[in-house]
Amino acid sequence: MTAPVILHTGDPERGTMWQAVFAQGMPEADFRCWPDLGDPSEIRHLVAWTLDPELIARLPNLEVVFSIGAGVDQLDLSLLPPQVRVVRMIETGITNTMAEFVATAALMLHRDMPAYMAQQRDGNWQAHDVLLCSERTVGVMGLGELGRASIARLAPLGFDVLGWSRSETQVAGATCYAGADGLETFLSRTDILVCLLPLTDATRGILCRDLFARLPRGASLINVARGGHLVQDDLILALDDGQLRYALLDVASPEPLPAGHPFYSHPAIVLTPHVAGVTRRETAVHSLLANVRRVLAGEAPDGEIDRGRGY
Ligand code: NAP
Ligand code: GLV
Repeated sequence: MTAPVILHTGDPERGTMWQAVFAQGMPEADFRCWPDLGDPSEIRHLVAWTLDPELIARLPNLEVVFSIGAGVDQLDLSLLPPQVRVVRMIETGITNTMAEFVATAALMLHRDMPAYMAQQRDGNWQAHDVLLCSERTVGVMGLGELGRASIARLAPLGFDVLGWSRSETQVAGATCYAGADGLETFLSRTDILVCLLPLTDATRGILCRDLFARLPRGASLINVARGGHLVQDDLILALDDGQLRYALLDVASPEPLPAGHPFYSHPAIVLTPHVAGVTRRETAVHSLLANVRRVLAGEAPDGEIDRGRGY
């Protein structure tokens, strides 16, 4: 078997750390860190958050791209020849931070924290009605790695939890719906909607006026997937006319949002700078190592995407 040649791009500190872990765990591998390409024709595996067209053009024997993140929409797959496999990152750091974030966000909206924060700024002392978690329904769109992990945190808090995905699936702690047929019921029952879908041609702009209108009046939105899922003007209209009560947005388009964007100052919006699910260097490198081993053994890597489907 020829020694695997891997090129890491992006954060140089992470590259140096991962190089050291590969030196221990897979000493036969040649783990290079950009810009030290060596002979580019030897590189078979690329580790990247985004793809640089000039770099890709210099890698004629590339076989697998490993995404640094759980999502792959930030990789321009049209740059890659069709035989190149693409693998998203599945690792405990992303999964646990995302699940914690979703639980935090749901509790914040459930207990009216955006209203209290706005009231504090205005010097206003006013209590709002309190519901129990069991009296609130949280609907999670996307029942993959991160949707399922989030449900596992939401259900023990006592929320009534629903899930929705493309194909029929069961998730412990949630009532699940699938496809266009299931969407109507799912939305009509959801008080706090969590988006954890991948961004694809089928899901771009899914968080729009039509969808908001199908939620109960006064429902709230948590978008922790991608900014491209949301139609921004539709959100402002839905918040301003009361169809939606709050939105907690961890992602936006573009990132960062330009200065003066209405999301920064809207009293019903809580904005965080794409920090919900974080790739942790210490744990992610072991997922990468295990996946390189799988590829070398002729097995399917964990998280390989269907390039035609986009996730
Ligand atoms: P995943 O494991 O690939 O799961 C995707 C889920 O979405 C599956 O349940 C899939 O259903 C469903 N789905 C896909 N297309 C659909 C459609 N058209 N209609 C209905 N359901 C659809 O993805 P993941 O690892 O959970 O990650 C989800 C997304 O989270 C990532 O793609 C990324 O954009 C985002 N993310 C954000 C952050 C952050 O910090 N904000 C961090 C990490 C990830 P089927 O299985 O039935 O096809
Ligand atoms: C972050 O957004 C990721 O896709 O991991």
